[in-house]
Amino acid sequence: MEKILVTGGAGFIGSHTVVALQESGYEVVIADNLSNSDEMVVSQIKKITKIDPVFEKIDLTCTKDTVRLFEVHKPDAVIHFASYKAVGESVQKPLSYYFNNITSLLNVLDGMRHVGCERIIFSSSCTVYGIPDELPVTEKFPRKKACSPYGNTKKISEDILADAVYAAFHNDRELPLKAVSLRYFNPTGAHPSALIGELPLGVPNNLMPYITQTAAGIRPVLNVFGNDYNTPDGTCIRDYIHVCDLAEAHVLALKYNKVSSFVEMFNIGTGRGYSVLEVIKSFEKMSGVHLNYEFAPRRRGDVEKIWSSPAKAEELLNWKAYRSLDDMTETAWKWQLAVLSA
Ligand code: UFG
Repeated sequence: MEKILVTGGAGFIGSHTVVALQESGYEVVIADNLSNSDEMVVSQIKKITKIDPVFEKIDLTCTKDTVRLFEVHKPDAVIHFASYKAVGESVQKPLSYYFNNITSLLNVLDGMRHVGCERIIFSSSCTVYGIPDELPVTEKFPRKKACSPYGNTKKISEDILADAVYAAFHNDRELPLKAVSLRYFNPTGAHPSALIGELPLGVPNNLMPYITQTAAGIRPVLNVFGNDYNTPDGTCIRDYIHVCDLAEAHVLALKYNKVSSFVEMFNIGTGRGYSVLEVIKSFEKMSGVHLNYEFAPRRRGDVEKIWSSPAKAEELLNWKAYRSLDDMTETAWKWQLAVLSA
C-alpha cells in the first residue's frame, strides 16, 4: 500500500482528496497546521471512509519539523495543498503569503530529498493564465503577470518545481523528481455525505459559499459583481468544478509516473463556463430557496470570462469531470445546512 503525505489535508480540497485516496486504497498521512481548518475534519473523513488517516499538526515553514515529518513517515509521494489562498488578503499581506507559500514548498522538497521521495503533485491555479487571449485555455497558453501576490506564489512555485525537476533529470547526483502541477479552475460543491465541505473563515470571498450563506440568512444579500460584461447575460463566466471530481484528478495524477525534465501541467476544469446568474438559477432550482441578490459594481481584478480545455488531463491522466453544476449547487447547499445544524 503506497503512503501519501497530504499537506493541507484538513482543508477544503485536501479533505476531499484524502477521502478519494483512501477509497482508492492509499494510506494517507495528513499534515496541516489548522490555520484555516479544523481538526474535526479528520474525524469526519473517518466517518465517510471508516479509515483513520494519520494526522500531524505541523507548520511546514519550520524546516526542522518538516524534515522530521518525512523521516517519521517516509511517504512514497506528496500532494502539496498547504498554502494561504485568499486573493484579497494576499494583497494586504504579501510578505506573509510569499513566506508561507514558498517556504513550505521548499521545505517539502527538502524533506522529500531527505528520505528519497520522488513524486509530488502541486496544487496550482488557473490564476497563472491571467486574462487569457482566447478560450478555452490550454496548458500551452503563456502564463501572464500575476494579478495578486497569491497568484504570484503559484507561478513562483511552478518555477521552483521546474528548476528542481530539470536539475534532478540532468544531474545524476540528484534524486529523480517527478512533479505534476494541477491548475484548478473554480472548485466548489461538497462531499455528498455533507460531512465535509468548504469552511470559509469570516465573510466568504467566493461565489458559492456567499450564495449558500445568503440563502441560509447569514448574509442579507448576495452582490453580483457586474452585469455589464461582454457575456450573454452580462455577468462573469467561470469554469466551476465539483471538488469530488477535482479530488479524483489527484488520485489519477499520482499514477502518472513519467520521468522527464519538466513539470507536467494539467488544467483541471470541466471545459464549460457558467455565468454568475446561471449558478444562481441552478442553486434556486436545487435548493428550492429564493435567493436575495442584487447587481453591484464590478469587482476589481475580475476576469470577464475564463474556462478550460481539460483535453490534456483526459488524454494523459484518463480523468474527466462528470458532476454537473446542479450537483455542485445541491451538495454545497446540503453542506451549508449541515453546518447550520451542527
Ligand atoms: N462573485 C459575485 N459575488 C460574490 C462573489 C463572487 O458576483 O459575492 C462573482 C465574481 O465576480 C466572479 C465569480 O462570482 O465573477 C466567481 O468569483 P469567485 O470569487 O468565486 O472566484 P474567482 O474566479 O474570482 O477566483 C477563483 C479562486 C482563486 C483563483 C482565481 C483565478 O477563488 O483562488 O479563481 O482566477 F485565483
